[in-house]
Amino acid sequence: MTGKVVIKEVAARDGLQAQPKHLSVAQRLELLAALGKTGVPELEIGSFVSPKAIPQMAGTDEIAANLPETTAAYSALVPNMKGYELAVRAGVRCHAIAIAATEEMNRNNIRKGLDETFTMAEEILDRAAAEGVDIHVYLAVAFECPYEGAVAEDLVLAQVERLMRHDPARLLIADTIGAANPAAVQSMMQQLIDRYGPDRLGCHFHDTRAMGLANVYAALQAGVRQFDASAGGLGGCPFAPGAKGNVATEDVVMLCESMGYQTGIDMPRLLDAVTLLSEMIGSPQGGRAHTWLTKQCA
Ligand code: COA
Ligand code: ZN
Repeated sequence: MTGKVVIKEVAARDGLQAQPKHLSVAQRLELLAALGKTGVPELEIGSFVSPKAIPQMAGTDEIAANLPETTAAYSALVPNMKGYELAVRAGVRCHAIAIAATEEMNRNNIRKGLDETFTMAEEILDRAAAEGVDIHVYLAVAFECPYEGAVAEDLVLAQVERLMRHDPARLLIADTIGAANPAAVQSMMQQLIDRYGPDRLGCHFHDTRAMGLANVYAALQAGVRQFDASAGGLGGCPFAPGAKGNVATEDVVMLCESMGYQTGIDMPRLLDAVTLLSEMIGSPQGGRAHTWLTKQCA
């Protein structure tokens, strides 16, 4: 197995957005600097959301204005057109929009129904194309929804087709509550890779049921080469009850590199960033191989 696997580090957004401990802008900038030093190619810096809905992400505009110099490409999450405009004003040129495959998840997350959400996504995609802004569309709860249960594969494939007509820079299949299994991932991603090729597809997995890494492996086998991951496995969505953290960046790096793929990420520096994150959050963070990886790097 050779070739590159591109990892987007999402600890500073997905990782922090549901933490009971709210980090200051200065702390979040320090964390981004540490993550940037790992060589990770992409970094999500926060989200332009209502501070009433997610106070943990307040001040993302200040973060955008003071970003550390790293080699990473920066992006931020936006929930609606207002967020799109705020992010553009803050100088961000790559936006993540998270829309859900189900009615109830959209209502709980962004207070819009399914139709309204997809129309909004299309409007943002078309405007972004005209304004030269890259959009990464996340199709959330693509396997199972905390409110509606199992999500049909055919529904997701049709939703992807609709979104692809508006030319997103990337479309990510997101297992927001960590309920997918490798067979379902392989089936869905193989069909999508066959239709659209690997360049514009990605996956976003949570590790609630300990199948995060197995799902990454299944997606890799299907040809996916772009993954989100969170340092230390931190993460969760405040509007998706029961969701645990993202698959840990250090575990994904270990999996990929041991199979012969290159991630460009420096493991000792990544573990330093996890240590910093643990100190800031006030509890030890780390992926499944944390102890072993720490010994290897000592
Ligand atoms: N950023 C900051 N403020 C925003 C905003 C944004 N993107 N979008 C709306 N607002 C503000 C409005 O200006 C308004 O402010 P006011 O009360 O001072 O007038 C207030 O929020 C309500 O606006 P409205 O359009 O009615 O929004 P809403 O109450 O229906 O909430 C969202 C919709 C999307 C703003 C809110 O649900 C949200 O931010 N959700 C976060 C989703 C998320 O990030 N989930 C986790 C990741 S998947
Ligand atoms: Zn997530």
